Amino acid sequence: MSESDYNVDITKLFPEEHTRRTFAKVFDKNTIDLLHSLAGRGHFAQVEYPISTGKEAHVFRAVDHAGNFRAIKIYKIDTSDFRHMDEYLRFDRRFEHIKPERRSIVHAWTQKEFTSLLKLQKHAVNVPSPQVAKDNVLVMEFIGSKQGEAAPKLKDAHIGNISLFYEALVQNIAHMLEAKLIHGDLSDYNILVKDDMPVIIDVGQVIPTTHPNAKKFYERDLNNMLKVLHRHGLKELTFDDFYADIKKAKEGKK
Ligand SMILES: Nc1ncnc2c1ncn2[C@@H]1O[C@H](COP(=O)(O)OP(=O)(O)OP(=O)(O)O)[C@@H](O)[C@H]1O
Ligand SMILES: [Mg+2]
Repeated sequence: MSESDYNVDITKLFPEEHTRRTFAKVFDKNTIDLLHSLAGRGHFAQVEYPISTGKEAHVFRAVDHAGNFRAIKIYKIDTSDFRHMDEYLRFDRRFEHIKPERRSIVHAWTQKEFTSLLKLQKHAVNVPSPQVAKDNVLVMEFIGSKQGEAAPKLKDAHIGNISLFYEALVQNIAHMLEAKLIHGDLSDYNILVKDDMPVIIDVGQVIPTTHPNAKKFYERDLNNMLKVLHRHGLKELTFDDFYADIKKAKEGKK
């Protein structure tokens, strides 16, 4: 798609030429129209630059008229692994009747990520506050500094006090269980670090704790995180300690 194919003036929405080109390479006219309509409703004023360009989604930093930053996650219709998405959507009764076609599945996935963020936020999990989701676009709180620098992924971050970080992570996972959800893809890619504390992101695939394989997914998440925590200095931590700490934190909340 070239820029001239869009029938709206996109330079206002995308002042940066490079961002405009990155966008035009991967997103269709529906997505640009949708961004225009969300901007028209005041959710943001300008899409500034891509923070991340992945296989499934691009995440852009945006800014509103008052100068507040936003993160906009836009799922790609063509390259998303929609079979994987479909399989996970079936865990959720709300999405049982989604049409088994690519576009509908990606839209449902975006909606699921939005509602999961809302639910997790309600249960005090530290997630980006969701603002709006429509079709393949999710607008949420920008996680980063006041100056607008995006927070690093745990994989790239240095943690000042790993014990405090661990405690916060345990609390976050306990809160997720309170919300009756398992992340399902917990890793040092899907945790951002802000003020030395974890922020959980990328929650499209969350799994209900009532799922028959919930235990397997949960243990996989904990094992992945255990390796990460070892790398960050908690070398003595065992799976059983980690499991018990979360259980204790969860019981403490009752
Ligand atoms: N709310 C946010 N604030 C700041 N940065 C964000 C936010 N959400 C996502 N990011 C950045 O974008 C990256 C990709 O986001 P996310 O993990 O949600 O997408 P993804 O589904 O993994 O995408 P893909 O599979 O295409 O890589 C994150 O690692 C993070 O660097
Ligand atoms: Mg991710």
